[in-house]
Amino acid sequence: MSYDPTIDRGAARHYVYGRPPYSRELVATLRDALGLDGSGRLLDAGCGPGVLTLELAANFDEAIGLDPDADMLAEAARRASEAGIANVRWVQAVAEEIPDCQLGHFRLVTFGQSFQWTAREQVAEAVYDALEPGGAIACIAPTVAGRPKPEGPDYPPIPHDEIERVVDRYLGPRKRSGQGYRTAPPDRYEDALARTRFGVAKILFAPGRPDIVRDTESVLAGYLSMSYAAPHLFGDRLDSFAADVRDICKEHSPSGLFWDWPGDTEIVLARHP
Ligand SMILES: C[S@@+](CC[C@H](N)C(=O)[O-])C[C@H]1O[C@@H](n2cnc3c(N)ncnc32)[C@H](O)[C@@H]1O
Repeated sequence: MSYDPTIDRGAARHYVYGRPPYSRELVATLRDALGLDGSGRLLDAGCGPGVLTLELAANFDEAIGLDPDADMLAEAARRASEAGIANVRWVQAVAEEIPDCQLGHFRLVTFGQSFQWTAREQVAEAVYDALEPGGAIACIAPTVAGRPKPEGPDYPPIPHDEIERVVDRYLGPRKRSGQGYRTAPPDRYEDALARTRFGVAKILFAPGRPDIVRDTESVLAGYLSMSYAAPHLFGDRLDSFAADVRDICKEHSPSGLFWDWPGDTEIVLARHP
């Protein structure tokens, strides 16, 4: 799998505003499962705008966020400085380059919704070699399938089906990605890890936030943060796409507010013995 530097072009500034946050209990779940005590080092691979890097940094001596997209890293550095988080640094590289980056050893290597973008088995083997004994890899993503949906605040759900149809109308029915088309990984994170020295992974769930209320601009930003609907794909029709999404949102919610249920946060965790 070779990296296409245009997959997220224009997406970085929409990312944090547009994506629902992970579970409030994610950090505590990782801390309990791995006995994190503020020492050791974290590598957050495919860190984007530093979502997990910044959430987890306080649990380590040092945290490194690694991502090939310069705009994502600039956003991550801006957010770190805004939050006064000083024990982080940023490395521009693809995860496939971990063995060449001389980054040292880590207690935890995370992939937040990013493992699927990599040559998974090759990258997992490189991570295995970069872990200290007892260290772990954690592939993290929100999961709705099979998870009980909680009661939420009294706002309509985001009209994803209708907005997806608008994306298709602008960009065609086959999901785009950079200069080509999106390809789904053939199987799950744990299936890929099982084919490496990590072997069988453990699956944990941290309960998703039941109370996320998003406005129309955040819904639009969520789409623009996706590689299959990134701003560059719309060319000079971006404003028109944005207007269509705003119209649909208005039809579904006169207040412009929506309840978002992103699911629980799934953690696929495997240890270095
Ligand atoms: C969906 S974002 C995830 C951001 C963040 N980790 C989170 O949890 O929200 C995926 C990120 O993976 C990065 N990415 C794509 N291909 C990659 C690769 N081969 N190695 C490392 N990161 C990659 C993209 O640049 C993007 O920032």
